[in-house]
Amino acid sequence: MPQIALDLSRGCGAPVGFAGIQSGEVVVDLGCGAGIDLVLAVERAGSDGRAIGIDFSSRMIERAHQAVAEKGLADRVELHVGDIAKLELPDSIADVVISNCVVNLCPDKDAVYHEAYRILKPGGRLAISDITLMEEIAPELRERFQSAGAGCLGGAIAEPDYWRIVSETGFRDVQTVNRHLLSDDEVRALASCPGEEFCPPPSPADLSLVEGKVASVKFTAAKPSPT
Ligand SMILES: C[S@@+](CC[C@H](N)C(=O)[O-])C[C@H]1O[C@@H](n2cnc3c(N)ncnc32)[C@H](O)[C@@H]1O
Repeated sequence: MPQIALDLSRGCGAPVGFAGIQSGEVVVDLGCGAGIDLVLAVERAGSDGRAIGIDFSSRMIERAHQAVAEKGLADRVELHVGDIAKLELPDSIADVVISNCVVNLCPDKDAVYHEAYRILKPGGRLAISDITLMEEIAPELRERFQSAGAGCLGGAIAEPDYWRIVSETGFRDVQTVNRHLLSDDEVRALASCPGEEFCPPPSPADLSLVEGKVASVKFTAAKPSPT
């Protein structure tokens, strides 16, 4: 794995590990960052497959270009600067949509899942790692997390609301691959992701209010084929 992709990896799982990517498939990575999962995905998709990475940070897209070039994969990876809530990709382009610790950051999760559904071929699938809350947190606490940045905590929503969005979008066969309740240290690290120099830690009192309530969730779901 190119060092730049490793150094800038900010995921909370490894969606390629459970996406079941087959040779020849087209994989879209929502919020690809520096490209760690794109490299893994396109290696699985083989010489007939390809991967498309989207990230709204042009600096991350530059780093992803560097990582795929270093692996000699540039001809099989497309990269775009863009908002995953408003993709400039055609309908039904992807066999698989993956995303690693990104949807929790997006204020409009509905729009993100509608876009994922639109770009998937019928019968296509999602493989997502994300951060959720085991229960809703007080609006004032959410506001404090959001105004402090608070990494991946400020935008995370309660799991029942998350699953409702996924199923109301039209996805079926939603399967939780793994759910890990974060330890206090992991919650602290997550709250300052991508690092304390970018995102100062919330107060210990605020952090204690979410300890034991933050989960890293990995799941798959399918876009049904017409019958
Ligand atoms: C926690 S990092 C994860 C990056 C990468 N998936 C990984 O595993 O290393 C979140 C990434 O999502 C991107 N991002 C957040 N919101 C986005 C949005 N609405 N549209 C596109 N990219 C977004 C950020 O620029 C950042 O690169």
